[in-house]
Amino acid sequence: MFRNQLVNRQIGKIAQNLSVALRRPVVWAPPRLIAAEITNLCNLRCPMCKLGQKDLGRDVGLMDYEKYCRLVDEITPFVRNMSFPWYGEPFTRKDFGKFVRYASEKGMVVRVLTNGTYLNKCEIDYLVECNVHSVTVAIDGLEQKTYEIYRVGGNLAEVTAGIKRLVGLRKERRSRYPELIKMNYIVMKHNEHELPHVQEFGKNIGVDLVKIKTAYVERAEAGERFLPTEAGERFLPTDSKYCHYDEEFRLKSGQDNNPGCSDLWRSSVISWEGTMGLCCFDYDCEYSPGNVFQEGFFEVWFGNKMQEFRRRILTDKKNIRLCKRCDR
Ligand SMILES: C[S@@+](CC[C@H](N)C(=O)[O-])C[C@H]1O[C@@H](n2cnc3c(N)ncnc32)[C@H](O)[C@@H]1O
Ligand code: SF4
Repeated sequence: MFRNQLVNRQIGKIAQNLSVALRRPVVWAPPRLIAAEITNLCNLRCPMCKLGQKDLGRDVGLMDYEKYCRLVDEITPFVRNMSFPWYGEPFTRKDFGKFVRYASEKGMVVRVLTNGTYLNKCEIDYLVECNVHSVTVAIDGLEQKTYEIYRVGGNLAEVTAGIKRLVGLRKERRSRYPELIKMNYIVMKHNEHELPHVQEFGKNIGVDLVKIKTAYVERAEAGERFLPTEAGERFLPTDSKYCHYDEEFRLKSGQDNNPGCSDLWRSSVISWEGTMGLCCFDYDCEYSPGNVFQEGFFEVWFGNKMQEFRRRILTDKKNIRLCKRCDR
């Protein structure tokens, strides 16, 4: 099984390089990773997240478990990694564990992204029992007053208690899973003064790794609609090292520097309804090439619409609205 996956990974890489060189899409392999939005419900109200601002251009709901299982059956053994969620907070689903278990039983390696607010409240045994590569928890403030500016509705003490609980459980069970318990810290104007203490904070709560991240501000017109300039000014860091944009919100890297974007060859995002997004930034599924529950995953992944998007990424990226605020 893993031989297939390894071969696929190599083929995927070659195909992508060839596509960039020829400036036309060559796709021979499935993606390496699929992000499944088992729900796009969330309990927080983060100001730069469309979901948090209740500005998502599609419905909120729960992925059907049977359809999810059929998707997993279809993509294994060709796709190795399953990531939860795409959008939303996966632990808002009480039955999140069964989604993790099913992917793991089918040989997939699982990655979990969470705001961490449920880790101290719900069942988390499956995180140490299944093949979970990483659990990444978003903490963008070292004190409640800094933390809650972005993670609106969150309680830092609860989140850190949840992380300690997970770290403790892994130790107590002598499990190697999750292989990586990670903290993501998005640098913003209101928290950048904490940067010198972030690593130490992570060490104290027991995470294996702290990753400092830069904030993405709206990169599509639809996104720009809900992000007022005041919010941009309020949240962008003053240290340019941690910012993708210049003072006029243009990408510093420039669109023309990058000949393509490997995302459309390497990963795929699936909404709770089965709609494939173009990439992880296609929050509204505005550029969707199709529905994998209705058409089948590989039909969509290798289909004409997806190929057309890949071709545009290679030849006309600067005119794709979605890509305007993204420097990948
Ligand atoms: C959309 S969230 C979904 C998972 C979970 N609800 C959470 O917040 O971690 C996925 C990732 O996006 C990150 N994120 C949220 N807002 C961001 C922003 N404006 N720029 C960059 N990353 C952001 C989160 O910290 C998290 O690591
Ligand atoms: S916790 Fe995650 S999904 Fe929820 S509002 Fe914040 S960034 Fe969005």
